[in-house]
Amino acid sequence: MSDGRLRAVRDRVRSFPDFPQPGVLFRDISPLLKDPVAFRTLIDLLEDHVRASFPKIDFVVGLDSRGFLIGTPLAQRLGIGFVPVRKKGKLPGATESISYSLEYGRLEIQSDAVEAGQKVLIVDDLLATGGTMRAACELLKRLKAEVLGCLVIIELKALKGSEKLNSIPFYSLLQYD
Ligand code: PRP
Ligand code: ADE
Repeated sequence: MSDGRLRAVRDRVRSFPDFPQPGVLFRDISPLLKDPVAFRTLIDLLEDHVRASFPKIDFVVGLDSRGFLIGTPLAQRLGIGFVPVRKKGKLPGATESISYSLEYGRLEIQSDAVEAGQKVLIVDDLLATGGTMRAACELLKRLKAEVLGCLVIIELKALKGSEKLNSIPFYSLLQYD
């Protein structure tokens, strides 16, 4: 890794074997959130990527719950609004919802969160199987938003989650096997 800024971020991700269940190596971003210099560097790197890749975005969409921690400061930095995609039963008013991960999870977005044709970037902390991100893309498409791209800090490459996103541009800052 040649970029010292990237190394500073990677150094603040720690790994816990067999959490939350045997066989899972959990990538924990808590040290990154706790270190204001490293966290600022994270948002700097994401901002650089987004500004270089997308000339105009209307909203950053963040996924419940760790995606909120990344998406809100990034949206502020970009000077645009933030839209939450939440787990079932958390959003008031009319919602659009979708099941994911073998039907035991459900994600929702408020029906009036974006208008047809608005351009969004979907942000989360981590891509594993890609089921959560794919479901979020589908929700945004149902609202007729244009999903310009999907962005995460951490990609677990071995799970090939990015293949679920088809033609939507995907970017990860850090990759793990
Ligand atoms: C984690 C992570 C992603 C998702 C990735 O969220 O933050 O949203 O899993 O997994 P996938 O690519 O296999 O779908 P989790 O559902 O654990 O919720 P949390 O952010 O509230 O901890
Ligand atoms: N979400 C899904 N898989 C994960 C992992 N290995 N580490 C942290 N969050 C996750």
